[in-house]
Amino acid sequence: MQLSKKKIQEGLTTSFLGQRLLIYKVVDSTNHLVQKGIKAGEGEGFLVVAKEQLLGRGRHGRSWYSRAGGLYLSFLLRPPIAGDLIYGITFLAALVLIQLIRSQYSLPVMMKWPNDLQLKGKKLAGLLTIISKDPNKDPYLITGLGLNVNQREWPKELEGRATSLQEELGRQLDLNQLLVSFLNSFEEEYLAFMKGEMDPLQDPRLIQYSSTLGQDLLIRSKTGEYQGRAIEITKRGSLMVLGTDGQYREFFEGDVSIRRR
Ligand code: BTN
Repeated sequence: MQLSKKKIQEGLTTSFLGQRLLIYKVVDSTNHLVQKGIKAGEGEGFLVVAKEQLLGRGRHGRSWYSRAGGLYLSFLLRPPIAGDLIYGITFLAALVLIQLIRSQYSLPVMMKWPNDLQLKGKKLAGLLTIISKDPNKDPYLITGLGLNVNQREWPKELEGRATSLQEELGRQLDLNQLLVSFLNSFEEEYLAFMKGEMDPLQDPRLIQYSSTLGQDLLIRSKTGEYQGRAIEITKRGSLMVLGTDGQYREFFEGDVSIRRR
C-alpha cells in the first residue's frame, strides 16, 4: 500500500504531530525538508515523509539506505529545553516504536545504544534527533526515523546486516497504518514526557529491551577504541562501560559492537 495523505490524516488522533504533513516520492533527505519548512514558518509537529531518499543521513553523516519500501520521516519538535532532550526524545521514539512492533507483530525487536533498533542482531531502524544551531532563535529538534518495512533486497554492504518487517513476517505491511500508529503513540508519550509524567531515560523498558546492556562490547568513540562491559544507560542517555582495564567510562557517543563471549 502506497503512502497516502488521505489515509494518514484519517487515522491521526494527534493534536499537532503530523497535522501539517508533506509526502514526497523522492527527496534528498526528509531532515533537509523539515529544515526548509522551519525557514518557511512551519510549527511544531510539521512532518515530512518520503517514499525514497537520495541522501538519507544517519549519525556522523553516514549514509542511510533509503530505497522504496521503507518508512522515512522527520518531524519538528519545539520542547522548552530542547538541548537537554536530544537523547530523551530519541529514546522515547525508540520505545514507542519497539512497543508498537512488539505488540502488533510479536517481533522481539531490541534497542542497540544509542539509536538503532535491531531484530535478531540485524538493523531494522535508525533514529536521529538533531538540534538547531542558531543560539539567537528559539531552539528546535528534528527527529528522523528510517524503518525497514517492505524492502526485500539490500546493497552488498548491508546483506546479512539489515532486515525488514516484511523479511521477518513474510508479508507486506501498510506504511500508512504503521506511520499513523507510531505518530499517535509518540505524541501521547511526548506530551506525558513534557508534563513530567514519564521519562524515557528512566523507563524500565529501556533496560528490558536493550541489546547492549550487560554485553561485552567494543566501543569506537571519538576518543578511541575501548573494550568492556555495558553497565548502565544513565539518566542522561550516556552509556557506562566497565573497561577490561577495570576503569569505568561514560560514553555520550560511539559505535558499539557486541563481542561474543
Ligand atoms: C542512524 O542510525 O544513524 C540514524 C538514521 C536516521 C535515518 C533517518 S531516515 C529519515 C531521516 N532523514 C535522514 O536523512 N535521516 C533520517
